[in-house]
Amino acid sequence: MTLDRGPVPEQGWDKGPVPLSRKENGMFVYNKGYIVDSAILVAHYSGFPYVCKKKGDLNMTKVGILVGSLRKESFSKKIAENVAELFPEGYETEFVNIGDIPLYNQDFDDENNVPEEIATFRYKMKQIDAVLFVTPEYNRSIPAVLKNAVDAGSRPKSESVWNGKPAAIISQSPGNLSGFGANHHLRQSLVSLNMPVLQQPEAYLANSAALLDENGIISNEGTIQFLQLFVDAFVALMEKYKG
Ligand code: FNR
Repeated sequence: MTLDRGPVPEQGWDKGPVPLSRKENGMFVYNKGYIVDSAILVAHYSGFPYVCKKKGDLNMTKVGILVGSLRKESFSKKIAENVAELFPEGYETEFVNIGDIPLYNQDFDDENNVPEEIATFRYKMKQIDAVLFVTPEYNRSIPAVLKNAVDAGSRPKSESVWNGKPAAIISQSPGNLSGFGANHHLRQSLVSLNMPVLQQPEAYLANSAALLDENGIISNEGTIQFLQLFVDAFVALMEKYKG
């Protein structure tokens, strides 16, 4: 693994520890480190923490996928897995878990006592360039678990993990409603979070259970074509906002 030395990690990540000792290119010796994911490593060098990234991943656009359902057999999750396959080369998708984020309480930030799961979530999202939301509708809005993740990532306001990141939304329902209410409630929050949200095509998937076979695969040609069109438009949006 070739490593680049990056900025000092944000608060909340100096923990672990995973024993690590290696020399790379004769330059770095890590005494201990924390593997955050396959691309990122937080290491200690001469007592100071650094974020290290795999060289090959630096040019990849990272798309975080947030699923608004924790259900084991979630249709949203299965749809998201199908959609993840449609991104072109140069795009890396990553499912970001939102199920263990504690209920957000503003005191966490006001009293500088942010729970580890929230710090972890914020850190992960900071590494992400764009966000795909795939969600069901709960009582004509988004599920609380997804709203909680949106809120937890939005503070401190000046460090919001969402600011300026392109986003796209797919809502689904096993019935006929297709999650329109959830889709638009989420859009309302994303506008306030300064996320450029894909406008067209809109993705409302009705009768979602029927779209998936017993292996969770979407095989209907028309649906695949539509989802590919959706991903292509999202990619065009991400390209437009690349810094
Ligand atoms: C629902 N469901 C639902 N469906 C819908 O189309 N509009 C709605 O307002 C609601 N409301 C709602 C509230 C609650 C609390 C639950 C548990 C469910 C049904 C929902 O679409 C269905 O359970 C989906 O299967 C949920 O998505 P996942 O878990 O399959 O991704």
